[in-house]
Amino acid sequence: MKYPESRLRRLRYNKNIRSLVQDVQLNISDLIYPIFVCEGENIKNEIESLKGQYRLSADKVIEKCDELIEIGIKSILLFGVSSKKDSNGEIACSSTSIVPSTIKKIKKKYKDEILIIADLCNCSYTNHGHCGTIKDGDVDNDKTLKTLCDQGLTLVKSGADVLAPSDMMDGRVSKIRESLDKNGFEKIPIFPYSVKYASSFYGPFRDAVDNNLEGGDRKTHQMDFKNSYEFIREVEYDINEGCDAVIIKPALAYLDVISKVKENFNIPIIAYSVSGEYAMVNSAAEKNLVDELELTMEIIYSIKRAGATAIVTYSAVEIAKKILSN
Ligand code: PBG
Repeated sequence: MKYPESRLRRLRYNKNIRSLVQDVQLNISDLIYPIFVCEGENIKNEIESLKGQYRLSADKVIEKCDELIEIGIKSILLFGVSSKKDSNGEIACSSTSIVPSTIKKIKKKYKDEILIIADLCNCSYTNHGHCGTIKDGDVDNDKTLKTLCDQGLTLVKSGADVLAPSDMMDGRVSKIRESLDKNGFEKIPIFPYSVKYASSFYGPFRDAVDNNLEGGDRKTHQMDFKNSYEFIREVEYDINEGCDAVIIKPALAYLDVISKVKENFNIPIIAYSVSGEYAMVNSAAEKNLVDELELTMEIIYSIKRAGATAIVTYSAVEIAKKILSN
C-alpha cells in the first residue's frame, strides 16, 4: 500500500494515539542513580564539572535516599570519594572505609526499600589513581584481584545488594564469584562493566572522585573504541564466568554496541550514561542551545530503544519527575 491510501501521519495527529502506539517504555524503576559518597558530616559539595551533582557525606546520602524512594527510584550505584589512599587501594577493604560504613547506615534505615549496587574498583583508593596494583609500570591484572575480592567482601558484609566490578580487567567475575560463594554470599549478583571503552566521556567523573590519574591512561585494560567486535568476547567471557547482568558504558556513543548485545545475548543490559554525556547536555543547556530535560529524555529513550533494560543516569531524579508528571 502506498500514498494516498496509506498516510503514516494518521498515527501522529492525536496525542492519545501517539501514546497508544508508542512501543518503547521507560519506567522509573529502570533508573539507577549514581551517588558519590565522601567523608565527614553534613557535606553537600557540588561537583564543579557535574552541575547539580554532589559529593555527599553519609547523613546527606540518607536524605537523598528519602527523596529517591519518595519519587519511586529503587536503585542506587555508590562510588567512594576517599581522601585516604594507598598504593594498592587496601584502604577500601576496611569495614570503616567510606562506602561500607555508608551502606550500613542506608541498610539500617531502608532495609530492602532501595537496591544498593556498589561500584567495585580500586581507583578511588590508590594514591596514583590507577585501578590497581602497579607492577613494571602497568596495572597488574592478577595481583589486583586480591584487593578487589577483599573490597567486594567488605561491601557485601556491610549490606551491598549487588557488586559492579568496573576495572575491565580479566578474570574479575570468576574470582569475585568464587570469593563471594566461599563466604556464603552465593545470592549476591555481580553486574560487571563487561563492555567499557577507554573514553574521554569519563572526564567529569574523575574530577568527582578526585582522581588525577598519574601518568597515562586506562588503555591497557579498557576497550578501544576503534574495535567493532571485541565486545562480543567480553560479554561471552563474563557470562561464562557467572555474571548476572552486564553494564555497557558509555551509552550514547555506543548505541550500536547496546543493540548488538541485545540481539546476541540473553542477559539484562544496564547502560551507563556517563558523566561526560550529562555534562555535555548540561553545558549546552546553560548556553540556551537546547532544552535540558527534553534532550535528556530523547537520549535516555534512545538508550532504551537500543535495548537497555535499565539505565544509570545522573538525571534520574529529573527524568522520574517528568515521567510522574505525564
Ligand atoms: C572507575 C569508574 C569510572 C566510571 C565509573 N567507574 C571511571 C573510569 O574508568 O575512569 C565512569 C563513570 C562516569 O563517567 O560517569 N572504575
